[in-house]
Amino acid sequence: MKGSPLSSILDIDKRHIWHPYTQHASERDPLVITRAKGASLFDESGNEILDLISSWWTCIHGHAHPALIKTLSQQAESLEHVMFAGFTHPPAANLSKALTDVLPGDLNRVFFSDNGSSAVEVALKLAYQYHRNEGNTARKEFFAFEGGYHGDTLGAMSLGRGSDFFTLFQELMCSVHPIPYAHTWEGDNSIASREDEALKAFSSLLNQKSEKGAAIILEPLMQGASGCRFARPEFVRRVSQMAREAGLLVIYDEVATGFGRTGTLFACEQVGFIPDIICLSKGLTAGVLPMAVTVVRDEIFDAFLSESFDTALAHGHTFTANPLACAVALKSLELFEEEETLERVAHIEARNRAQLARLQKHPKAEHPRAMGAMLAFELAGSKGHYKTQDGERLRDWYLKNGLNIRPLGPSVYLMPPYCITDDELTRAYDGLFEGLDRL
Ligand SMILES: Cc1ncc(COP(=O)(O)O)c(C=O)c1O
Repeated sequence: MKGSPLSSILDIDKRHIWHPYTQHASERDPLVITRAKGASLFDESGNEILDLISSWWTCIHGHAHPALIKTLSQQAESLEHVMFAGFTHPPAANLSKALTDVLPGDLNRVFFSDNGSSAVEVALKLAYQYHRNEGNTARKEFFAFEGGYHGDTLGAMSLGRGSDFFTLFQELMCSVHPIPYAHTWEGDNSIASREDEALKAFSSLLNQKSEKGAAIILEPLMQGASGCRFARPEFVRRVSQMAREAGLLVIYDEVATGFGRTGTLFACEQVGFIPDIICLSKGLTAGVLPMAVTVVRDEIFDAFLSESFDTALAHGHTFTANPLACAVALKSLELFEEEETLERVAHIEARNRAQLARLQKHPKAEHPRAMGAMLAFELAGSKGHYKTQDGERLRDWYLKNGLNIRPLGPSVYLMPPYCITDDELTRAYDGLFEGLDRL
């Protein structure tokens, strides 16, 4: 590939690039990554960095998986892109069939978009229009958990208004009712009473507001961006049932939890509840290309059918159902079978669980927890949001020592690619504890 010499990449970046979630006036320079393989990234000097957060929770099978790269290049030779209104193609059809086969119940209809936020926007518009198509114009408000994160576009931000991320943009947001979230950890004795309180608060909110409610959206079992906060399946199930009984559509945002992260292919399987709408992205293409889907139950889709375009969903994106992304996503699903990926996740979970006692004893760690391919805890005494002093110091130390671990506020977590080896995991744990000891 032609281009500027490697030595000038950082200068060009600093002159021309605006990075996400970055204060350019004060943050240290980004690392130049030139190669990635399996669970590792390599910088311009060839230094290895274990990617312990799967590059924003995406590359579930590891970087540059040969089968995914082969599928991508084969697909590129036959069809790279075609508009998706009035046309269809084999990768989209085959992926839709495979996805709806593994999703529970009658989650049978797939709407494609490009990223998690867009999948959520589509879910919101669908839910709003569903009630209108059914003749109910009153239902236009949304319910969402405090601390939830559903993306950065305006609608998705509104749903995350219960967190501190978006305070600045409050006046641009649509109406959303935050409900208390009962999160839990290993050895948590107070969870049953905190769940009861949260359910009571939700019940009283429903009594006042449910007639105007279009839908509830939630991240089942694990709130990602607010610090990898876990909830018990029975709590999520009860909230979902109450919402459905009150006439709300139930949207599960499995952008982060989907594709094995919680131990099952989808978190909703452990919850034992089939949502009306499910949003998927991140692991969908195993981190190779941007794509998302919003999948709905048959009954929802049927409400958009009529002789008039007025009841159709007037929404679409230029790269909807890009054939390259669809082909890779289909291969990624096949890899779950071929490589017994969920068994690997179970193995990672067992190894993570074996670290809990050590974390419980560590003076700098509290509220340790493990689920699927996730291990998390809080930094004791560290308060703050998104970036904390301790968290930033830890992140820098980990990076200097070849580990990509990025604390979220006071929460430290590991979400490695499922291909991570036992030796790599041991390296990760050793480094994790050494960083903590040095704090
Ligand atoms: C649960 C959840 N929903 C939605 C999103 C937004 O996805 P994207 O960043 O692809 O827009 C994220 C991103 O982290 C997420 O974790």
